[in-house]
Amino acid sequence: MTAQLIDGNALSRTLRAEVATRAAALKARGVVPGLAVVLVGENPASQVYVRNKVKACEDNGLHSVLEKYPAELSEADLLARVEALNKDPAIHGILVQLPLPAHIDAQKVIEAIAPPKDVDGFHVASAGALMTGMPGFWPCTPYGCMKMLESIGYELRGRHAVVIGRSNIVGKPMALMLLAKNATVTICHSATRDLGAITRQADVVVAAVGKRNVLTADMVKPGAVVIDVGMNRNDEGKLCGDVDFAGVREVAGWITPVPGGVGPMTITMLLVNTIESAERAAEAT
Ligand code: GUN
Repeated sequence: MTAQLIDGNALSRTLRAEVATRAAALKARGVVPGLAVVLVGENPASQVYVRNKVKACEDNGLHSVLEKYPAELSEADLLARVEALNKDPAIHGILVQLPLPAHIDAQKVIEAIAPPKDVDGFHVASAGALMTGMPGFWPCTPYGCMKMLESIGYELRGRHAVVIGRSNIVGKPMALMLLAKNATVTICHSATRDLGAITRQADVVVAAVGKRNVLTADMVKPGAVVIDVGMNRNDEGKLCGDVDFAGVREVAGWITPVPGGVGPMTITMLLVNTIESAERAAEAT
């Protein structure tokens, strides 16, 4: 059996069109949804990500402000900028692109963002809201993975979901989202013994490690859903995920490709969070 693909580009187009409709409705009420993207330094990958985020806003009726600062910007000056954006009524979402230069405490900057504008979902208040089921913003990448599962009508209740990776921005929030849908969740990580013995029990595997071939065909139960969050380069310099796609697609029931899978969904969910924030702000006035 060859797995069916979950197409992140196609799903993104649908969800972004919904964002554009919601943006138009807000504009008709005199509210222009706005995202501020803050980039410090000249990390080439960050520059590409930031450009894509700003373009996605423009393409879908959101206003975006890109603030670029030199790598020497002081932590105090960055905190002051975040504070100004917190107070700016034209801004509904604030995203400080990571990584930040080493002299800046990234967690301190994230905690300075007002939680109602934390569209990245990285603030401890957002993490706490996800953990307790309170309203807040969910981190975009795992939220995008949940939308992909939803798009195939997958019923998570009672299923065994295995998450490989325990980062604060993907692995841990992913596990909480799956748990909230009543899956039985296992989190695996670098100290896990016999990863394959665990993944072979999984109905759903989410691979979020950042290393090629973490999941191979022999580690997958026939028919399982495989979500690949990885973004790596192979020996030829081509983009690839954490999953051995060619092998695993012959065993899995569903699989997300790289590129064209989770990647576009991350930006899509940033737009969704930003429009949601703008709608909440509009309701509150
Ligand atoms: N760096 C890499 N991915 C992300 C992201 O989703 N948000 C932010 N703020 N920085 C990142």
